[in-house]
Amino acid sequence: MSSQIDHLLDEGRRFAPSPAFAAQANGTSDLYKRAAADREEFWADQARDLLHWHTPFTQTLDWSNPPFAKWFDDGQLSVAYNCLDRHVEAGNGDRVAILFEGESGDERRITYAELTAEVKKAANMLESLGIGHGDRVAIYLPMIPEAAIAMLACARVGAIHSVVFGGFSADSLRSRVDDAAARLVITADGGYRKGRVSPLKPAVDMALADRGTGPQETVEHVVVVKRGGNDIDWTEGRDLWWHDMLEQADAEHEAQPFPAENPLYILYTSGTTGKPKGVVHTSGGYLTQAVFTNKYVLDIHPDSDVFWCTADIGWVTGHTYVVYGPLALGATQVMYEGTPDTPHPGRWWELIQKYGVSILYTAPTAIRSFMKQGRQIPQQFDLSSIRLLGSVGEPINPEAWIWYRDIIGGGEAPIVDTWWQTETGAAMIAALPGVTDAKPGAAQVPLPGISVDVVDETGHQVPNGKGGLLVLTEPWPAMLRGVWGDPERFKETYWEKFADQGYYFAGDGARKDEDSEIWLLGRVDDVMNVSGHRLSTTEIESALVAHESTAEAAVVGAKDDTTGEAVVAFVIIKESYLSAHSPEGLAGTLRQWVSQQIGAIARPRDIYIVSELPKTRSGKIMRRLLRDVADGREVGDTTTLADTAVMSIISAQVK
Ligand code: WT7
Repeated sequence: MSSQIDHLLDEGRRFAPSPAFAAQANGTSDLYKRAAADREEFWADQARDLLHWHTPFTQTLDWSNPPFAKWFDDGQLSVAYNCLDRHVEAGNGDRVAILFEGESGDERRITYAELTAEVKKAANMLESLGIGHGDRVAIYLPMIPEAAIAMLACARVGAIHSVVFGGFSADSLRSRVDDAAARLVITADGGYRKGRVSPLKPAVDMALADRGTGPQETVEHVVVVKRGGNDIDWTEGRDLWWHDMLEQADAEHEAQPFPAENPLYILYTSGTTGKPKGVVHTSGGYLTQAVFTNKYVLDIHPDSDVFWCTADIGWVTGHTYVVYGPLALGATQVMYEGTPDTPHPGRWWELIQKYGVSILYTAPTAIRSFMKQGRQIPQQFDLSSIRLLGSVGEPINPEAWIWYRDIIGGGEAPIVDTWWQTETGAAMIAALPGVTDAKPGAAQVPLPGISVDVVDETGHQVPNGKGGLLVLTEPWPAMLRGVWGDPERFKETYWEKFADQGYYFAGDGARKDEDSEIWLLGRVDDVMNVSGHRLSTTEIESALVAHESTAEAAVVGAKDDTTGEAVVAFVIIKESYLSAHSPEGLAGTLRQWVSQQIGAIARPRDIYIVSELPKTRSGKIMRRLLRDVADGREVGDTTTLADTAVMSIISAQVK
């Protein structure tokens, strides 16, 4: 990592926005001035300017009981009304909200009027099933318009959605359904992926089956969208077709306002322990920062841009930059169901050409995999509509940054690298593209109204040029309000480390350069970042040791040219299994097992079967040394190991 960091910091290129871009940009330097003058008043102005309030707020921030923040607490709003009805009432009902493209090439253009009508019916459906204020609804869907409709319908009735990424396993779904005690699951028969139907409903059936010893069954119904047309099992009385329900539903539904702090959603994310945390977001502050960043960072002009954020709704990026932000802004956006290489490797570029996409927001891992395929693929398409590019999920290496700008952005489009997390709800560190000169590889500057710092272990600011820990020093509107059902874990995970200063600890390493601009250096905890998705080493280790053949396991993130990091597991196999199975067979079985337990994204790239693991005298696994092995580096300092010979044994075994 450190040579990579030094290389990053050598990067000295600057790219100023063109005068034409700067002239039309939504964000100007005035935003920084206003935020610096009065941070809270700045956010209050944004909330009033960008959202419709049924009851205006008089209080901006209540930080009297940290770390439990309340923003705009006495205000009332409807998130769904802000994303839908108000655009129709303003005369923009005919504007396209979603340009949907299925993987197999089917299209749907959904206007704001149509989307509003669908969400009204879906809200009536929810109410007919007894779902209302405060109820939890699990959503397990492919990237189809019904995903956004289901989320907005929950928001409309004040229910809390918990979207579970369609690539997660039945077990992962089950633990999320249980943790939130969901009453309803919304799923599909299946969706299209890599040219075939990938079933979803069977995982829901599995997640809800055999619950004799588990917690009390809370799920009353499963609503199924027909998408894949695949055969599915049906539980009479529990399962309902989405289309039947919507057909029967009333067309009218008035949006009720809810308090600004009403929970909007729970989204589970991996932490340093085995159990994912349910990050809780609320309404008014979240939506303010979601719209703010779509407008000023992604520079969306709703009447002329075609926006495309390629994230799945299963991740926070899909919540803030596919559903809530763009829709609250009244933007037109592309939604694509499938994989980038189906049916041909130029699919994304074909979509940009077809729909005239002007702003593309994606992840470095995608950019690197396109780089590998070669520029001749995108160059077959007309990408001249692109005027701005965004990056999210992990640091973008300067080489990929330049390629992105040159090949996709026509050598001219500004790039905004946006640092944020599931917990922050919306972008936190990013340039304003019409103001800031871009630096390849750096997330650069905190947004107006956002305060960050880089500190040492004791919470003191480190000088520019020196590495440290990234902290958020002031509460922000879209911040998480807690961990579902576990206030202690919320305090412990994010606030305990710098309790004296009252800082939020992000878990990322960072460094400020000579201009005080911020470069992210990767996670400093046991969290991996694979293709821009967070995975916990402990969670995968727990899955591995849950297999009957495994005695012990240690998981690390190794460098990977495409995915950023890759999952590499070191496993000690029980004697009885070692003698009866080949190492290749065991590794294959375990890879498959992890995929079943968590989901395909967690499947280890490499599994090394070893006889020992490097541990300190207190028994802690030294992952640093295993990372050296996984990256093929010389193994670092082993003096704190209980048995210093272990690393040479392991190194010999992985060759
Ligand atoms: C972690 C959060 C933000 C939505 C997608 C991931 C890393 C994210 C950047 C960036 C460097 C980044 C951090 C962060 N990360 N964006 N622009 N530059 N690192 O959300 O799963 O909550 O992961 O992703 O390590 O802590 P997430």
